[in-house]
Parts: sequence; C-alpha cells; structure tokens
Amino acid sequence: MWVGGVNSHSAKLTAFPSAPQTKNQGNWEILDPASGIIRRLPVETRKIGNTFVWTSKATDLDENRAYIYRLIATGQDSSYSGSFKTFSNRPTGFKFIASSCSFTLGSPSYLPMMDFYPQFFLHLGDLHYGDISSTQIEDHLRPYLTRFLNGKKEQAFCQRVPIDYIWDDHDYCGNNSARPSPCGNAARAAYLAGFPGYTPYRQAAGMAHSFQNGRVRFIVLDLRSERTDSTIMSSEQMNWLKQELRTAHLNHQLALIFSSVSWYGNETDNWGGFPEERKMIVEYIEENSIDKVAIICGDAHMSALDDGSNAAALSSIQTSPNTLKTRFPVVQAGALLSFGSNKGGTYSHGAFVNPLGAGQWVEFQIIDNDAAAISLRITGQQTMPGYLQPTILFHESFFWSLPSSKNQGDSFDIDRTENTLNVKIPITSEKSGSLYRLRTAKGNILDAAAAGESNPLILCTQTPKISSPLFLEEDRLGSFRVFLISEK
Ligand SMILES: [Fe+2]
Repeated sequence: MWVGGVNSHSAKLTAFPSAPQTKNQGNWEILDPASGIIRRLPVETRKIGNTFVWTSKATDLDENRAYIYRLIATGQDSSYSGSFKTFSNRPTGFKFIASSCSFTLGSPSYLPMMDFYPQFFLHLGDLHYGDISSTQIEDHLRPYLTRFLNGKKEQAFCQRVPIDYIWDDHDYCGNNSARPSPCGNAARAAYLAGFPGYTPYRQAAGMAHSFQNGRVRFIVLDLRSERTDSTIMSSEQMNWLKQELRTAHLNHQLALIFSSVSWYGNETDNWGGFPEERKMIVEYIEENSIDKVAIICGDAHMSALDDGSNAAALSSIQTSPNTLKTRFPVVQAGALLSFGSNKGGTYSHGAFVNPLGAGQWVEFQIIDNDAAAISLRITGQQTMPGYLQPTILFHESFFWSLPSSKNQGDSFDIDRTENTLNVKIPITSEKSGSLYRLRTAKGNILDAAAAGESNPLILCTQTPKISSPLFLEEDRLGSFRVFLISEK
C-alpha cells in the first residue's frame, strides 16, 4: 500500500489486496493520536484484469496534524504501522525529499531517507524500468506492485512517508517513449487507478498536477505523455504552468517546478531538445518578475546543484546572458538505484554521478516562521551499498523575501558605516543561546556570531556594500528561523 494525494484536509490510500482478502470489507483506519479519534473508512474495490485495487480517501482531516493508520483486511489484525501529516494553508516549515530512477528494488536510500523524517517524498520518474509497451491497463498496473511496492524497504518507506510521483519514460511506455498513444492511455489509466495521486490538471490527458503546503507551491510537470517531435508538452500544459507560476507569484509563494528530465544540458531527450519551450518559460519568469522559483529534476542518474549562476549558459537563452535577472536554483535529485549517467549542464555546487549500487536523493527543508522571509535548505545525499551512513554531496540555503502576515517587531536595526555593516539584535531570554548568521539571497554567509552577553548583540560584517535583501538566520538548538532584515 501507499498513501499520497495529501492536502490540508485530505489524503488517499491505495492498496493491492490478494484475491482472498477482497472477499471481506477492507477498512482504512486512521487514528489521531492527539485526540484519540478514530476514523474508519471503507475501501472501494476495483478489479483490473486479475489485479485487485483498494482505494480510500479521507476528507475531513485536520490541518497540519500527524495521523497514524492501519489497513484492516478482515481476519488479519495489524498494528498502526503507517503515518502521515496533513499540509498547512498557513505559513509553516516542513521537510520533503526528491529522487528518481529505481532500476531495481532495494535502494540503500530508503532507510536513511526515513531518518530525515520528510513530510513526503516526490519520485520524479522511472519508478521502475518495466518499459511496458502494452495497451492493457493491468500490464502498467502490475509493476507498481512487482517492481516497487513488493520491495521490503520500499514498503516500509511508503508506510512511513506519503509519496507523490510523476512518470518518466521507462515507467510510461519504454525508453525515450513519449506522446499520446493507446499505450499512454493505458499507462494513464493505471496511474489513476493504482497510484494515490493528486488530481491531474485536466481530465482528458496529461498527468501534470500541483499542490501546496504552507507558502510553497509544488508544480509537477508531465513531460512524456503530451510530448511530440517538436514540443515537450501540450500548449494546454504550458498555459497551465504559466498560470501556476503566476498564481504562486501573486500569492507570495515559493514555486517549485518538478521536471522528470534535466533542465540543463543539450541532449535531445531532455529540455535541451526543446530549447524554444525552455526559453519561453525563462522569459515568462523574467517578464513577470517571478523571483521565488526553483527547478528540481530527475532523469540524469546523478545529483547536482546549481545556484542559478550557470543559467545563462543554456544555449537557448545565450543571446542575452547579461540581462537575465532571475537566476533560480536548479537541482538534479539523483537516482535511487541505477547506473550513473550525466546528461550535461554546469553546476556551481558540483555534479555527482551515481556510483553503481549507491543511492542518491536530495533533502529539502523549508524554514518559514511567518516572518518576512522563507528559506530553502538543499542537501544532496548519497549512501553506498551496505552502508547506512549517508555522505553529503552538497549543501546550500536559499532565501527569499515574503510579506509577513504577522504584526510583530522582528526587524533589526542596521548600521552602515564606512567599513562595516552592523545588525543589532536585542537579546531576549528566548533568543539567548542561539546562533546567528547573516546571509544573502543566494545563501552566502556574511558573518556568524554566537549569542553573547551584550544587549543588543551586534552582528558585524566587513562587507558593508553588500546589497539587500539580507537575511538573519537564527539557529536555536537545531530549530531554525529566518528573518528579512529591513533597513531603517
Ligand atoms: Fe532513469
């Protein structure tokens, strides 16, 4: 079983029962440990070929609340082994993970990924390498079970962490497969029947979808089923993407775009093969001054991070490299378990091709305390086969300013003198014992200081000419807060 489609008040469960189990009424039992309230939801049974599917949707859940659950197949007692947490409509900090490409079962990533306690996992395609070219729905449905959920680690992970997912080629209709087709229709029907996902952006075709948690909008593209020789997505999806970016911008949200293929590089099977559309998106972001955006990609079997400084090297926008205003982070989220591959691109923080048998993933931590800033910490991780302890491949924080809904005095006096820039932080009992860092929007640390005796504490940097926005990052026993520094 797996749980997904999580929103602020709802979540979905999909399970694959055995034929004897389906003779009884299955129930999805959700316990709110805080109140003791138990919700018991009957499952709906569907039979596709010889495969049974159970689905259930909880719709009256509380916002931003942790639940535990179990699936009761009558006659089989089970403990509350599953858990998930609903999303929030208000500013909130949270963690999630992204990766892609599980060539075989048993990636060494799953156990260390659980140690991060992500609120959800985003699988960016190649959930399996079944390369199914069939037009039968069941042929596309069975690999969810045989090539993913039947794995012990995969199943343990899915019970602990809700999942969202978009296909790439190998789990669509085969290597480099694309475009609408009878095979694609079967793959789409299997996804809708067997994966507990979000509602697609339109009914007729395509699996692109979006959701939001706190002040972050997740925009998940479908770059396979609508692709033709000349376009990577339909005009409908392009218009939807623009609308999503605009909605995020108008609502002061950070927009995270998820792409099952590499954004950088010039290979024909990724965005490099569709330079006009890549250019169109960059131009849309520029023209609308959409300043809070990042792109997270699958496909290349490597982990990589660029802070935006290599965006101008994209061949499709090379004509105006110096006028590019928005330089957003670009992430390659690794392969869960596959042979390594590099699909091009230059990355400020390095590109790490997946060693054979190793597992890679990228951890994301949103820090948002409803002050006038939001921060995204990005950490690339890798675990070698046989090891539990991951290695950090890259780590960086990005900061964006946002309007605060709080009516509070979290602004700090700033003094610019000839040689220094000083930020005065009043020490309250709550703030003592904290570490402070000054950061630029790109994540560069200007200076660091431990809480001292004096009040106000003064953070001092020798680079007074640094331009706004500047952020104050507070680290109090591992609990992070970010503030926009407003110059008085
Ligand atoms: Fe792959």
